[in-house]
Amino acid sequence: MLAADVTDAMATELPTHYLDAISLGKIVLIREQLLRAQATGMRVFRFESGDPSFSVAPPVLDAIAAAGRAGKTHYIPNNGIPQLRDALAAKVRDRNGLAGVGSDDIFVTNGAMHALFVTFGALLVPGDEVIVPDPMWTEVVENIRMAGGVPVGVELSAADDFEYRTDRIEAAITPRTRAIFLNTPHNPTGAILSRERLLEIVSLARANGLWIISDEAYEDVLYEPWTHTSIGALAGDYADRVISIFSFSKSHAMSGLRVGYIVTTSHAMHSRIPKLLRCTINGVNSLAQWGALAAVQGPNEHLRAMCTEYAERREIMLFALSGLPGIRAFAPHGAFFVWAELDASAYARLGVPDAAALAEKLAEAGIGSAPGDAFGETCANAMRFAFSCDTAMVRDGSVLLRAALSEGIA
Ligand SMILES: Cc1ncc(COP(=O)(O)O)c(C=O)c1O
Repeated sequence: MLAADVTDAMATELPTHYLDAISLGKIVLIREQLLRAQATGMRVFRFESGDPSFSVAPPVLDAIAAAGRAGKTHYIPNNGIPQLRDALAAKVRDRNGLAGVGSDDIFVTNGAMHALFVTFGALLVPGDEVIVPDPMWTEVVENIRMAGGVPVGVELSAADDFEYRTDRIEAAITPRTRAIFLNTPHNPTGAILSRERLLEIVSLARANGLWIISDEAYEDVLYEPWTHTSIGALAGDYADRVISIFSFSKSHAMSGLRVGYIVTTSHAMHSRIPKLLRCTINGVNSLAQWGALAAVQGPNEHLRAMCTEYAERREIMLFALSGLPGIRAFAPHGAFFVWAELDASAYARLGVPDAAALAEKLAEAGIGSAPGDAFGETCANAMRFAFSCDTAMVRDGSVLLRAALSEGIA
């Protein structure tokens, strides 16, 4: 029985529930299909997955082992171990320019995913609207909905390099708007918001009394000459209305260790967030936090090395997607995804009705991808190809992907 069928079956046995409206995730379904194929011995190419292929740095593993041996395996404060919160406060002050942040402003979460859940849960009341880019990694809108909020998409377009346009954000503001959500570098397009655009968003939020939620999970995955700016560093006396979210998953390839964090100086959030932390996870796995401490305090040459390798994979994949009639791929400025738009001529050529059908056909051939409609309302004619799997897989899979998209899939 497929996961989707399980939900349908449950829905018939139980009264309607808010979770019935939340998807199980189109990308998850593609991943399951690929893993089933892999289990039968087929070689698969994990271009649907945003999981960094790299190993966790040895000092992080050593710190985890040492903490375990030292018996640091008991309950810990639910907002995180003090040593990690101190180090993260210093990191966001020094590297992100979040002036005045102290360790009490840091809340360690079970990855950025949980940070989103906690942030929207602590901020929203039912019916509150949150403006989000469209396309956007789906879990953001799902978390808004789970908190009773209403996501309001703002279309990003290729003509603007997928930058979040402030005139469009402004047009989406209503009396029910509570917050503007942004994500830079952006999943799925790889766009990076410029300093000027971030300043405009701060002005807009300030003029309308809105909160800003900034997801910076990909802050370290950048391609030259692009750099990352944290909106919290530009907010001045409006900074306590900015909630910033970070993660060790992408920066440090620690996805399975599940460490992320929220930074907020708001008193209201300080009182609400600990309640959600206590009643959901009651603190992130203590050993993972000791590992995160080693990661944030340790050398960061390997972060640069990872970016160099991502840059190589990016070129391979961009080449694979270049010059294909009806398919237009965009070079990401950050993160590890190539976003490609498709038109009717590509569908006709490949014998598929749409991008969702193409993603399914590719998956049958062992090639992962994520169809545009997994990311929003305005992007059905697009696909996302991730290059976070290892370089050999990117290289070999890109050859097959190019063949499939030029000659068709058998
Ligand atoms: C934009 C964005 N935010 C947050 C996350 C969550 O990452 P994690 O929960 O692993 O920290 C992801 C994961 O893919 C993401 O793409």
